[in-house]
Amino acid sequence: MFYQVYPRSFADGNGDGVGDLDGVVARLDYLEMLGIDAIWLNPVTVSPMADHGYDVADPRDVDPLFGGMAALEQLIAAAHRRGIKIVMDVVPNHTSSAHPWFQAALAAGPGSAARERYIFRDGRGPGGHQPPNNWVSVFGGPAWSRVVEPDGAPGQWYLHLFDIEQPDLNWDNPEVFADFEKTLRFWLDRGVDGFRIDVAHGMAKPPGLPDMTSLDNRLLRDKDDDPRFNQPHVHAIHREIRRVIDDYPGAVTIGEVWVHDNARWAEYLRPDELHLAFNFRLAQAGFDAAEIGEAIENTLAAAAIVGAPPTWALANHDVGREVTRYGDGEVGLARARAMALVMLALPGAAFVYNGQELGLPDVQLPDEVLQDPTWERSGHTERGRDGCRVPLPWSGAAAPFGFSSSADTWLPMPPQWAALTVERQLSDPGSTLSFFRRALQLRRARAEFAGERVEWLAAPGDALIFRRGGLVCALNTGEPALRLPDRQLLLASAPVVDGRLPGNAAAWLV
Ligand code: GLC
Repeated sequence: MFYQVYPRSFADGNGDGVGDLDGVVARLDYLEMLGIDAIWLNPVTVSPMADHGYDVADPRDVDPLFGGMAALEQLIAAAHRRGIKIVMDVVPNHTSSAHPWFQAALAAGPGSAARERYIFRDGRGPGGHQPPNNWVSVFGGPAWSRVVEPDGAPGQWYLHLFDIEQPDLNWDNPEVFADFEKTLRFWLDRGVDGFRIDVAHGMAKPPGLPDMTSLDNRLLRDKDDDPRFNQPHVHAIHREIRRVIDDYPGAVTIGEVWVHDNARWAEYLRPDELHLAFNFRLAQAGFDAAEIGEAIENTLAAAAIVGAPPTWALANHDVGREVTRYGDGEVGLARARAMALVMLALPGAAFVYNGQELGLPDVQLPDEVLQDPTWERSGHTERGRDGCRVPLPWSGAAAPFGFSSSADTWLPMPPQWAALTVERQLSDPGSTLSFFRRALQLRRARAEFAGERVEWLAAPGDALIFRRGGLVCALNTGEPALRLPDRQLLLASAPVVDGRLPGNAAAWLV
């Protein structure tokens, strides 16, 4: 049971309106009460924050915005005292343009060893005015930017699959892995329990950098014929990473792997590569029994190819909040609660994104506060991911709801969240938070939550019923109430009357 902390938005310890690590330490009692096993921390390393930490300028130090190294050391110690593990985000595919390596590459000019750490190429066409190939950035616009050479002349182009401030590293250069190994050991030696590996299907680039054939570039969609990602030689990199990780028994790696084909996705989980990987099928499924059933089957089948544990997530800082995806308002929330029971019934590792346990929706933010680079790079056609990154409401009746002592939070918090604060929900046995607490407690304590196999039981077309170990989970995505199997009811996301489960609801039975 992983809990994803988006540090900017979880809790602000120093009153600057941005969440930080002291804020996380101050809220550890809350996480302990939820009964999580581990925290996955989105990047906290030194960064100009062009992509909120996924642009790393120093991978072996903590940004002062989050409280610096001392704050992380304190968090690790305090979390460990509570039996909670800490998983950090590492970003091997690219650095920040402010990283000393990139600055050196700019200064050193074409043909230099410093440029060999990144992917610099001459442009095409007269004067090299055209980018080296047609690749596009995941955030929109071309994936190449042209530099001005030290002598002032228009110069080479560098590759950035994400923002302009996120130049891609050249993983064919052994210096790149050597430095990444240093980073892994640096954090593991400081007690970190593992890593979420950003864009784990990136890093390796195809020889000759051939053009993309499809330029459909929706954010983080997995297209298996995309030359920018999932190149076969990426697996050699994962094997090297695993050799380092294996020096630290118990440490875990979790890859962000946007690969659609199950066989190719499972390659990342071979015994000498990653331990866990996201496959995102459940997060991509609509609230439809057939789609959800297929996503579950598919995820189980993919992990089973290599005998790895499956992973489950309904939301994260990129894909948005499920309450909104499922229709927003009361219906969206009811469906999100139902899906929480589905997810938590399944075998393997589950990930809860901070605020999910409060039933938070995405926030419709005004244009002028948007910060996600996607907004600018897409020419204001894609609003980006800020709506799912709004700070968490903890207490009180008005923003900033105990998140910060400053009213000027990095994204504005909607007044309606007064009804969704942790404080309010803890005192209400019918709240989403109370429901999550109960679900997590049962998942931890009850012997029925065991076994790797999922067995489908007969159900009408707009419902799913499956058995895992001694537990039966029923989901009703339709309108008519669903007659539940004749068993003892353990927990339901909505009131069960006369053995009937209403629509947009799920139940656990034993
Ligand atoms: C991953 C992260 C995302 C980030 C991107 C670039 O997809 O989850 O937030 O923008 O990588 O590092």
